[in-house]
Amino acid sequence: MRLLAMIGVALVSAPLLAAEPRQSVSGPEYPAKDTPEAAIERGGIVFDHYCILCHGAKADGMGRAAKLYTPRPANLITSDKNVQYKELIIKQGGKALGRSEFMPPWGNELTAEQLSDLLAFLESIKSPAGKL
Ligand code: HEC
Repeated sequence: MRLLAMIGVALVSAPLLAAEPRQSVSGPEYPAKDTPEAAIERGGIVFDHYCILCHGAKADGMGRAAKLYTPRPANLITSDKNVQYKELIIKQGGKALGRSEFMPPWGNELTAEQLSDLLAFLESIKSPAGKL
């Protein structure tokens, strides 16, 4: 009986022990400070909110509304544009840069932090060969 009880205690406490690191507030799951990973995570949320309709959930330019536009919304994974250009077109819209007016200007919509998070996200998904 006693042995069974001891096994029981061991079985119950093993998962608790295993889960312990996750409860630490300084662990990787709960970054105490702002990190590049946190910026990318937030940027993905901004993207899902404002950009997904045209650029698609995978940012490959295949959003639900994509077929309405010619030229099509850009594939942001294989885009060869640098961060400065992306910042410019995101803020000012396509028309200001001599491109499609259907790429809207987001300068008045996004905060500076949202914009830099978004750019961090776009950098993180880049794959010039189109392979993910
Ligand atoms: C209403 C549809 C629409 C929405 C919403 C939209 N875009 Fe676009 N976007 C476009 C189109 C269309 C183009 C292509 C313009 C062209 O080729 O002339 C484009 C182009 C771009 C480019 C240029 C990429 C390259 O390689 O040239 C970037 C960067 C971009 N969009 C980012 C975004 C981001 C970030 C958001 C969300 C904040 C967003 N877009 C929301 C339609 C949209």
